[in-house]
Amino acid sequence: MDIQKVKEEVQKLREKIRYHNYRYYVLDDPEIGDYEYDKMLNRLIELENKFPELITPDSPTQRVGGQPIKEFGTVQHVVPLLSLANAFNDGELKDFDRRVKNTVGRDVRYIIEPKIDGLSVALEYEKGVFVRGATRGDGFVGEDITQNIRTIKSIPLKLNKPVDIIVRGEVFMPKKAFEKLNTERALAGQNLFANPRNAAAGSLRQLDPKITATRDLDIFVFNIQQTRDVHLKSHMESLEYLKELGFKIIPAILNTASIEDMAKVCNDWQDKRHALSFDIDGLVLKVDDLSQREVLGFTAKNPRWAIAYKFPPERQETKILDIIVQVGRTGVLTPTAVFEPVVVAGSTISRATLHNKDYIKQKDIRIGDIAIIQKAGDVIPEVYEVRKEKRTGDEKPFTMPNVCPICGAKVVRLEGEAASRCIGDACPAQISRLIIHFASRDAMDIDGLGPAIINQLLDNGLIHDAGDLYYITHDQLKSLERMGEKSATNIIRAIDESKGRGLDRLLFALGIPLVGTRAASLIAGYFGHIDNIITAEADDFLQIDEIGDKIANSIVTFFRQPQNIALVEKLRKAGVSLEYKRREIGNALEGMAFVLTGTLENYTREEAKQAIEERGGRVVSSVSKKVDCVLAGEKAGSKLQKAKDLGVKIIDEEEFNALLNRS
Ligand code: IVH
Repeated sequence: MDIQKVKEEVQKLREKIRYHNYRYYVLDDPEIGDYEYDKMLNRLIELENKFPELITPDSPTQRVGGQPIKEFGTVQHVVPLLSLANAFNDGELKDFDRRVKNTVGRDVRYIIEPKIDGLSVALEYEKGVFVRGATRGDGFVGEDITQNIRTIKSIPLKLNKPVDIIVRGEVFMPKKAFEKLNTERALAGQNLFANPRNAAAGSLRQLDPKITATRDLDIFVFNIQQTRDVHLKSHMESLEYLKELGFKIIPAILNTASIEDMAKVCNDWQDKRHALSFDIDGLVLKVDDLSQREVLGFTAKNPRWAIAYKFPPERQETKILDIIVQVGRTGVLTPTAVFEPVVVAGSTISRATLHNKDYIKQKDIRIGDIAIIQKAGDVIPEVYEVRKEKRTGDEKPFTMPNVCPICGAKVVRLEGEAASRCIGDACPAQISRLIIHFASRDAMDIDGLGPAIINQLLDNGLIHDAGDLYYITHDQLKSLERMGEKSATNIIRAIDESKGRGLDRLLFALGIPLVGTRAASLIAGYFGHIDNIITAEADDFLQIDEIGDKIANSIVTFFRQPQNIALVEKLRKAGVSLEYKRREIGNALEGMAFVLTGTLENYTREEAKQAIEERGGRVVSSVSKKVDCVLAGEKAGSKLQKAKDLGVKIIDEEEFNALLNRS
């Protein structure tokens, strides 16, 4: 192939792809479909693979390339990224207007923009090519997040003009992307982000840009920090210029000279903001004329030519109809206020958590109270305060029940805990916790079956206990929200595989109080089959070294409960192994001394030690000539060096597996 021709084709493809990226990600107005776009991108990737010397950092293929890093470097901002002074009401807006006019005269136009609730970033371009992205940090020094910034598709890697420029904007996560991300995290059993801002921050500060790339971040650019390539007269002109360069610019809400109009817009947007596809926490008012801005200048922290109008947290009055108690999946009793439905921050709400007894006491919340419900920066509603002056005398104080409203078992408050808990073993609220334990790694190790899926299965009535897991069908799994074909297949396979784990794992998985992995393994080894355990008396367990009264009684009590026997029968019918699999271990390592160093992929240190000891070997802590073998994992340190110096045999994990007869 003629390299000159390839170069031309690559050039053309890049221009086309850049243009369609712009239509799609910046203008939100695509001209072509995914198929056509992918065809061009794939052709470009093909050519770049064949001719890697043609790859440039501003190629559309180069958004996700870099490897994970250990920590972010720092960037000194050439022009500080100042923050804005705040106004919280009309009066403070008028004060701002007065100060501006006192300095520059009466003839002032203001631009109002949404105040995006995201993260401020500076983007630097040299000759039109993106070279650096940084967080705001303390305004003077930020973190270098160039690799993560590159993954944001609405940020151009190459501008339409070869200019040197630093711009400032706000990176944010659209509401839809936030909801999608949290649903995925819930399904994977991961912690949820509290709001889109936190999600955006967490995504931008990822050390692995590949993760950032999956997060659907977006940007609005609103300021030129520095450039010598153009002379502009007003903010509107500079936004126009930024647009010409290819940036996604902040949409202006109003361009006006009237302070009354501004106050009205600020009021109107408290409600209007909920219809936007992204979160805003206020509006920003800016003097439009750049020469007036120069005269106004800056205080130490803020420009004098702009102000942020912050929306007050939204509050509504309503009546508390009841305080009910919900029993969570871990047995915690949470009092919840139920009130007459009200619209706060764009959504209708009728409940708010009251957390615990102390919280209710501190705020003196009573059933029948008129309360002020608030939704602040967070999405979670709360009782801000109750209007004591509106009390009629009919209000009833709340008392925490001392028995569980679901199962009737005793409720206790543990030392040092704010929460009250139900301690009933058979409480439906605790079933979820038991099933999660059953599927966990050290128990039946059902890969992919995390808390979120288990809770969905429970909520949909597809399971009632751990035994039901073995009767779930592929179609039932697939009917769960956000469950894909492939995940469903994998989970069904993992459930099936878990049938053969053996009695020791099953005994631990049953969640019998006091029976940990060690006790489960000893008991399983001694009795050999679950039927022998079910029929055993407490004394029989005491024949086993290390097993005392408490564990013995706990097991006997457990198997006297009919629902636990029913569970065993369900497992038996499903083909779950109820037998102990004796592992042929042998004495292959008799008398040998080992030193462990570094981390192993498939063993914890304790497991490796156990495996050696079971075969007659022992583990010592320091390397000497008396040591037979050093087992070195990842990041092995000085012990490895010493072994080399002394000429002691060194083995890796694979050789260790072979020694144990496991490979
Ligand atoms: S102007 C000197 N405009 O709000 C320029 N800021 O403290 C000052 N923000 O973290 C910024 N939307 O990043 C401006 N339309 C907007 C904005 C905006 C969000 C952020 C800004 C800063 C904070 C103000």
